[in-house]
Amino acid sequence: MIMKNITPGLSEASFDPDPIRQFELWYEEHSGSFTGEKNAMALSTAEKGGRVSSRMVLMKNYDHSGFVFFTSYNSKKGRQISENPFGSLLFYWPEQKRQVRIEGRIGKVSSAISEEYFHSRPMESQYSAAASPQSSVIADKNILMEKVRQLHLLYEGRVPDRPGHWGGYMLEPDYFEFWQEGENRLHDRIIYSLTSASWVIKRLAP
Ligand SMILES: Cc1cc2nc3c(=O)[nH]c(=O)nc-3n(C[C@H](O)[C@H](O)[C@H](O)COP(=O)(O)O)c2cc1C
Repeated sequence: MIMKNITPGLSEASFDPDPIRQFELWYEEHSGSFTGEKNAMALSTAEKGGRVSSRMVLMKNYDHSGFVFFTSYNSKKGRQISENPFGSLLFYWPEQKRQVRIEGRIGKVSSAISEEYFHSRPMESQYSAAASPQSSVIADKNILMEKVRQLHLLYEGRVPDRPGHWGGYMLEPDYFEFWQEGENRLHDRIIYSLTSASWVIKRLAP
């Protein structure tokens, strides 16, 4: 039988020992080629009992401390995080045929960071966030529009206060998987696990 030549794909040695630097490398390649929401990621959280829920959110910052997104602390995700702080992030970058999975513990960012980000958003987005009881059932959309109108009357064109239940979360990673599509489904899967001292890199079978 003649075996087709298979290109070897990525070697472990080509991955940065620091997963955040590796993430930055892949994220910049994705950002340079993608025209949609470059920073979109799927966030999965779970109830105490284990039932899981996923949704898209926007990554607003990342560094060696973790990955930050903003939302309502009263939302479904907020309720789940308060019951069970462990979560997972998933990025899919089709142009590069890559996905990145990140797991870790989620905590709130400081109110100063939430305040700064809230007021950096367009004014109408601030009003919308202040008006919306995210993830609660509402009878119709008019209820939201009316709430926005009342807030405009209340604040008389000034910036609205940030509601106390609106703010940021940071996922502090202890696990990464960098996945790159390979030939004949021999994909590369390089994982980083955080031990007490450092990140340990291993390869998983596809
Ligand atoms: C591309 C994209 C980005 C989104 N970004 C955010 C975000 O940054 N924060 C947020 O609260 N919701 C965001 N949403 C809406 C969420 O997916 C979700 O509908 C909302 O947060 C309520 O989720 P929950 O009920 O599970 O808490 C985004 C939706 C999409 C499609």
